Amino acid sequence: MSSFKTWFNLFTIFYVLAATPIFSLTDSSNQLSTNFLEIAKKPEVFDWMVKIRRKIHENPELGYEEFETSKLIREELDKLGIPYKYPVAVTGVIGFIGTGKSPFVALRADMDALPVQEMVEWEHKSKVPGKMHACGHDAHVTMLLGAANILKQHEKEIQGTVVLVFQPAEEGGGGAKKILDAGALENVTAIFGLHVVPLIPVGTAASRSGPLTAGSGFFEAKISGKGGHAAIPQLSIDPILAASNVIISLQHLVSREADPLDPRVVTVSKIQGGDAFNVIPDYATIGGTYRGFTNKSMDQLKLRIKQVIIGQAAVQRCNATVNFFENVGPANPPTVNNGDLHKHFQNVAENVLGVNNVNLNMPPFMVAEDFAFYQEVIPGYFFTLGMKYASPNEPFQSLHSPYLRINEDGLPYGAALHASLATSYLIKLQQ
Ligand SMILES: *[C@@H]1O[C@H](CO)[C@@H](O)[C@H](O)[C@H]1NC(C)=O
Ligand SMILES: *[C@@H]1O[C@H](CO)[C@@H](O)[C@H](O)[C@H]1NC(C)=O
Ligand SMILES: *[C@@H]1O[C@H](CO)[C@@H](O)[C@H](O)[C@H]1NC(C)=O
Ligand SMILES: [Zn+2]
Ligand SMILES: [Zn+2]
Repeated sequence: MSSFKTWFNLFTIFYVLAATPIFSLTDSSNQLSTNFLEIAKKPEVFDWMVKIRRKIHENPELGYEEFETSKLIREELDKLGIPYKYPVAVTGVIGFIGTGKSPFVALRADMDALPVQEMVEWEHKSKVPGKMHACGHDAHVTMLLGAANILKQHEKEIQGTVVLVFQPAEEGGGGAKKILDAGALENVTAIFGLHVVPLIPVGTAASRSGPLTAGSGFFEAKISGKGGHAAIPQLSIDPILAASNVIISLQHLVSREADPLDPRVVTVSKIQGGDAFNVIPDYATIGGTYRGFTNKSMDQLKLRIKQVIIGQAAVQRCNATVNFFENVGPANPPTVNNGDLHKHFQNVAENVLGVNNVNLNMPPFMVAEDFAFYQEVIPGYFFTLGMKYASPNEPFQSLHSPYLRINEDGLPYGAALHASLATSYLIKLQQ
């Protein structure tokens, strides 16, 4: 470790040589950020973003099938003269702006849509039956392209390299994990990501230091009995009754075994069994999700879910097998925001949006984000961006709703925040 004295001397020399030290760096980084929002709001950038967002919205693609979306991204990067790696993790695209040299800072957007039938009647409604950008990832891709556009215009001022991560399969596909496994982010010093939220107004953002979204795992169980005539239960072993007791018992894991101050969720969201009014089926299946904010609570829930399902099924003379989809990938960890990056976010966001438009103490919530995989290996920061639909008559629709509408006026803010977070972070690293 270099001594304080050495640093002090270096600082003194620096101070003497440069008439306006550190402050000028901060000022120039603030100035840059302010300009970014202005640029993002200019018609040539804003209209271009709206066009891109609508094009992606019309053609939603599910995880690892984002071929057209990926192609559109590459075409826009080509037009901007931005080099990229492709394919990374099937459909992923990794772009590079700046010196091409260290330090590297990454910005991430997810590309996938959901198996939801869009119910919003508008000109740019999804053209694919049963698929919709109901989580706003169309806006995420657009805003990262917006940032790319802005950054390219200021490439000479970038003190390192901004890595643009267009990631597949956020919605349960573990696309972030695959991007990491591909080694694409090997030398990255920090990573930033955002999610649109329809609840807070355009021009506002919210996040927190520490845990923000929960860890999430899925489970499915097959509970096997012995089928037979519904009128002669004594000759059967009823898996429906066993499944019912299993579901009730699973509810006790949170209410009786978890610290009430350590939030957890167990939800059984699937149940299947039987086809007839007068037949006891051979087996029933149930499935659902478990969530928590620490590795410990996730591991404990997983262990107990298995024990309770097998044990409770046995009470009713049934056998049970439990699948945690480990062959597909590990459970989604909680997103945990780095404390230093939180301070950086505060500086940048307050500068771009105004002090009153940034909530730094957003309550954590139980949804999951695979951005957490990045944060396990790279200091990372995730925040939410206001995209509330402007019409006062529009009832609130949550993410994943077939009625979700986002407000395109929010696009410049996301693009400018992305660009500012990256460039000013690289400036900060020089200090
Ligand atoms: C990371 O840096 C090392 C050492 O400079 C280099 O060999 C490697 O190729 C870099 N990885 C990527 C993905 O750029
Ligand atoms: C449960 O498994 C045991 C051991 O394989 C088997 O003997 C029994 O018949 C099974 N019971 C049911 C209801 O499937
Ligand atoms: C949780 O576990 C993962 C995988 O073992 C590890 O990388 C991560 O650092 C752990 N997180 C915490 C907060 O302990
Ligand atoms: Zn989602
Ligand atoms: Zn999402």
